[in-house]
Amino acid sequence: MRLGALRERLIESVADADGVFWFQPAGLDWSMDELVATQGARAQLFSDIDALVAAVVAQASPLDRIVVMSNGGFEGVHERLLAALAAAKEGGSVTANADTVFKKPITVALTGASGAQYGLRLIDVLVAAGHEVWVMISKAAHMVIATETDIELPAQPQRLAEALSERSGARPGQIRCFGREDWMAPVASGSGAPSAMVVCPCSTGTLSAVATGASNNLIERAADVAIKERRTLVLVPRESPFSPIHLEHMLTLSRLGVVILPAAPGFYHCPQSIDDLIDFIVARILNQLGIEHSLVPRWGEVENKDD
Ligand SMILES: Cc1cc2nc3c(=O)[nH]c(=O)nc-3n(C[C@H](O)[C@H](O)[C@H](O)COP(=O)(O)O)c2cc1C
Repeated sequence: MRLGALRERLIESVADADGVFWFQPAGLDWSMDELVATQGARAQLFSDIDALVAAVVAQASPLDRIVVMSNGGFEGVHERLLAALAAAKEGGSVTANADTVFKKPITVALTGASGAQYGLRLIDVLVAAGHEVWVMISKAAHMVIATETDIELPAQPQRLAEALSERSGARPGQIRCFGREDWMAPVASGSGAPSAMVVCPCSTGTLSAVATGASNNLIERAADVAIKERRTLVLVPRESPFSPIHLEHMLTLSRLGVVILPAAPGFYHCPQSIDDLIDFIVARILNQLGIEHSLVPRWGEVENKDD
C-alpha cells in the first residue's frame, strides 16, 4: 500500500459507498490525488486526520453507516471518530482538532453571593464530564472568592480562562471566559448562547436584575437571552433571610420557567465534609442540566444510618 502496489484495487473497494473520505498519510510514496479525482464529488482527500474526522461528523446523518477501512493506524482514527460523533450527538462542537471536541457548552456565571465554592466546583465537574464551559465572574464574585477561598483568580478573561483551566485540568479551549461588557460574546445573543446557563452562586442583586430584564452587564444579558429563548436557566441564590423583594423576584422567574435552586444543602446523605455539602448542590444543578453524575447518592440509594 505504501508503495502503491494495490492502488488499482482501492477504487473497487469503495465502489458501493455514497461518500468516501480518503486519508493521505505523511510519507506515502505516491499521491492519491489522481485516484481520488476519478471518484468525483463523492470523494474527498485529507492529509490531516482531525480535518477528516470533522468532515465525516459534519456530513454524516443519523442513519448512515460509517466503515473505517484502516487496520487501527491512522492516528487512532477509530477512537477519534467515535468521540467526535458522540460529542456531536450531544450538541457539542466539533472542530478540525480532535483535542477540542467537547460536549455541548454550558454557561456558568459566578456572582457576589456567598458560596463561591459551589460555582467553582460546578466548573470542575463540567470540565471533567467533557463539556465546554463558558465562564463569567462578576467583580463582587471575585471579592467573595478572595474572601472565602485561597484561590487566586485574575480578572482579565484570557488569564482567567488559563487559571481556571489549570485548576480544573481543562483541555485547551474547553474553558472560555467573557468580561463584564463583552457584548460581542456569543452568550449575548440568542444565536450564539448555549442551551443552558447556571448562575451559581446568584446574588440577590443579580436575581433582581434578571427578574426585571436589566441586562446591565454580560451576566444579566446572558440570563435575559436564556429567558427570551426559552432555554434552561438555573439560578442558585444565597441569602438569609430572604426579603419579600427577593421572594417576589424568585416567584416571577419561576413562573417564567427559570429554575430557582437555593444553595440550601440537605443533610440526609450524612455529609462528612464541606465538600459533601458543596457536591449536594452541584449534583442538584447537574440533575437540572440532564448531566449524569455520581456526586451524591440519589434518593432511595442513601444507606440507612443504622445499617
Ligand atoms: C464576602 C461577601 C459575601 C456576600 N454574600 C452575599 C450573599 O450571600 N448574598 C447576596 O445576595 N449578596 C452577598 N454579597 C453582596 C453582593 O456581593 C453585592 O450585592 C454585589 O453588588 C453583587 O453584585 P453581582 O450580582 O454583580 O455579583 C456579599 C458580598 C461579599 C463581599
